[in-house]
Amino acid sequence: MKTYFVTGGAGFIGSNYIHYMLKKYGKEITVINYDALTYAGNLGNLSAVSDSDNYTFIKGDVCDKNLLQMVFAENCIDYVIHFAAESHVDRSIKDPEIFVKTNVLGTAVLLNTAKDSWYSGGSFKEGKKYVQVSTDEVYGSLGETGFFAENTPLDARSPYSASKASADMLVKAYFDTFKMPVNITRCSNNYGPYQFPEKLIPLMINNALHGKNLPVYGLGLNVRDWLYVDDHARAVDIVTQKGKSGEVYNIGGHNEKKNIDIVNILIEKLSELLPDSDKRKKTLSKDLITYVEDRKGHDLRYAIDPQKIMNELGWKPETMFSEGIVKTIKWYLDNSEWLKNVTSGGYTKYYKQMYGGGVQE
Ligand code: NAD
Ligand code: DAU
Repeated sequence: MKTYFVTGGAGFIGSNYIHYMLKKYGKEITVINYDALTYAGNLGNLSAVSDSDNYTFIKGDVCDKNLLQMVFAENCIDYVIHFAAESHVDRSIKDPEIFVKTNVLGTAVLLNTAKDSWYSGGSFKEGKKYVQVSTDEVYGSLGETGFFAENTPLDARSPYSASKASADMLVKAYFDTFKMPVNITRCSNNYGPYQFPEKLIPLMINNALHGKNLPVYGLGLNVRDWLYVDDHARAVDIVTQKGKSGEVYNIGGHNEKKNIDIVNILIEKLSELLPDSDKRKKTLSKDLITYVEDRKGHDLRYAIDPQKIMNELGWKPETMFSEGIVKTIKWYLDNSEWLKNVTSGGYTKYYKQMYGGGVQE
């Protein structure tokens, strides 16, 4: 029975990962979800598993050394899967300090706690692994051609990606210095259920359903490489089981799309999926698209070369974009209460701060 210590498990990817793991391994594993429940964390994402006796939630901050030490002392943790982070680029441009605190200091505290707990008599106990869930954004921005490989130099260009790159360097340092069993994964843009509507896809779905304008930054020509979140969860699992210690693995599915193409697809698919009787269908049109001021320092293009994880670990993406995007839209349509809950509270203020003036509602 292996015990997984999952940070940020109440967020988008973390909660999908926990669902994936509990479905795949059932009672063979124990999951401890450690999450500070920031604006992005939502325990409602895990209501289906919250009563399972092999799942525990602990509300905690990754910067809280005392609490982490206590949890590690009280549990025999085998794997640390570190998802917790401040994850939104636009927020990092407005308020970078919390990104440094959570993403850099939080990683330092967590790494060191795991090391102290796992290191004994001059070596690491058998069967331990720390997985740092990182991002392709640490490589910077591509031009019209080329791909990010694991040996592409780090060239972070936003406060968010700079904080993630710093965290990656700490993880690498723990491998180089202590031979700590670690892996770093660098994934491209995820989409799927439970994604907070500040990110492109759920924000556009939510706005479209409310007849609100769809704010496309700049000319909408920036390119992202989209991966369905379950494919990411499966990749993290494979890296945990089979990844060679100290190695970095890029994760992506060769699914590059321009932002404007994504927005057009969302409008088309939503129009198809909403029943004729639904009042929202009447307000849904491409006229909602509004070109707004560009993101500062907006990275032009991300594209992952996933050869290493495919060839060495046997992972490959399973969900085609055409299938994944329909599943995602259906999920948001079927879960309007979830959308309503996460957009109550501070969301209106956030939206006004971020888009106020630029987007007429
Ligand atoms: P998210 O913002 O949806 O969730 C982050 C979670 O971390 C939330 O539950 C939040 O409450 C928790 N958290 C934040 N600060 C914390 C703290 N100090 N202590 C404990 N918990 C804290 O993020 P996401 O999109 O699910 O991303 C998860 C991870 O994957 C991040 O590390 C991100 O950098 C990385 N990543 C994301 C994507 C993507 O497309 N979303 C792609 C590649 C990598
Ligand atoms: O590449 C992986 C990264 O993907 C992760 O590390 C980040 O945590 C995650 O947030 C995501 O970053 P992006 O900045 O690429 O995602 P976002 O959804 O914020 O934006 C996607 C693209 O859409 C980007 O080019 C900006 C654009 N955009 C975004 C929003 C929110 C718009 O045009 N309008 C918008 O309103």
